[in-house]
Amino acid sequence: IVRAEDEKAAAETRYRGLVEQLPMMTYVTSCENPPATLYVSPQAEQLIGYSVEEWLEGGGAFIDALVHPDDLEAFLEERVRSRTTGAAFSLSYRLLARDRRVVWVLDESHEVVDPDGKPLFCQGFLVDITERKQLEEQLRQSQKMEAIGQLAGGIAHDFNNMLTAISGYAELLGYSFDAGDPRLEDIAELKRAAAHAASLTRQLLAFSRKELLLAKRLDPNAIVHELETMLRRTIGEQIELMIELEPELAAVEADPDQLAQVILNMALNARDAMPTGGRLTISTANVDVGPDLPDGAQRVAIRVADTGTGMDEETCGRIFEPFFTTKEPGKGTGLGLATAYGVVSQSGGTIEVESVPGQGSTFCVLLPRAPALSNRVAA
Ligand SMILES: Nc1ncnc2c1ncn2[C@@H]1O[C@H](COP(=O)(O)OP(=O)(O)OP(=O)(O)O)[C@@H](O)[C@H]1O
Ligand SMILES: [Mg+2]
Repeated sequence: IVRAEDEKAAAETRYRGLVEQLPMMTYVTSCENPPATLYVSPQAEQLIGYSVEEWLEGGGAFIDALVHPDDLEAFLEERVRSRTTGAAFSLSYRLLARDRRVVWVLDESHEVVDPDGKPLFCQGFLVDITERKQLEEQLRQSQKMEAIGQLAGGIAHDFNNMLTAISGYAELLGYSFDAGDPRLEDIAELKRAAAHAASLTRQLLAFSRKELLLAKRLDPNAIVHELETMLRRTIGEQIELMIELEPELAAVEADPDQLAQVILNMALNARDAMPTGGRLTISTANVDVGPDLPDGAQRVAIRVADTGTGMDEETCGRIFEPFFTTKEPGKGTGLGLATAYGVVSQSGGTIEVESVPGQGSTFCVLLPRAPALSNRVAA
């Protein structure tokens, strides 16, 4: 008997070691609703910052209080469904960690029954799938932008042809009037409208990456510096402008006029987000995206940060769409960031956005470093 007990203890140690090494949290609960927590593995603390003791003391509804409010209904429904049908519980949802982080988890559990089919307890696991969710979201976002890009590019292309015809015929029509004819002013008006439409079309083409940029080697600091005087004049006195340039900034390859437009639009967006004043900071930096990555992974960051209204998640998800604007009619076309997106992706870069409603936003343009000059001479 003693040997059998020893073996049982050894087996338990073995399994406990195994379970506590899994890259997920495992748990056992009762089969009631809400369930009583019988066991939680120590990975709980890594997952969302609450210790095993807190979890056990918290009782059956401990986790319910941590489920993201938007997911709570689905969570409770899934529990009722699995309890009433005896089927496995399986759901992805968000938990709020102790430090208020949002953690996406996959939660799966099933009932363990005795030989007569009577449920004994439930066992399951919680695994952190935050990274996967983020990658899915990025993929979804880039597919959306790709589709919008194709649509916008196609329309813009046809539009451009028609606008060329409109301004061409307007020009011709002008020749059939004598100089000084008052109707010439109407024709000029026609041409102005066509030119304006053509400039919008060009921005759409830039967004859909169909327009060729004149990329050359340049110093982003010089561009920011050139914009500075103009910005000080346009943003008004209520907004404090801070410029923080990295003195050893690496060069990038981009179209200087387009890059200036990108920065300018971000600065103007920042101004518009601070109607009662605030601080606008434009800064540059060299960033290493990852220590193990090849040379090309080194990037140059141009950041435009404001202390303005910020954006909620829904707005944030749409800002790069052409014609998405929250500004009054006549104030914004919604093409600023769409153009920026096109220009930056065509230069091999990305734009990252962080925003907290009520606190402000930071837009960060990341561009690949231009290859070292010495390499070029050698090549
Ligand atoms: N710094 C910011 N703070 C808050 N919201 C912003 C900020 N930057 C952009 N947005 C939001 O993104 C939307 C789209 O910006 P975008 O620059 O593309 O267009 P716009 O500024 O509205 O018009 P346009 O630039 O064509 O004149 C804005 O209407 C605003 O809602
Ligand atoms: Mg804008």
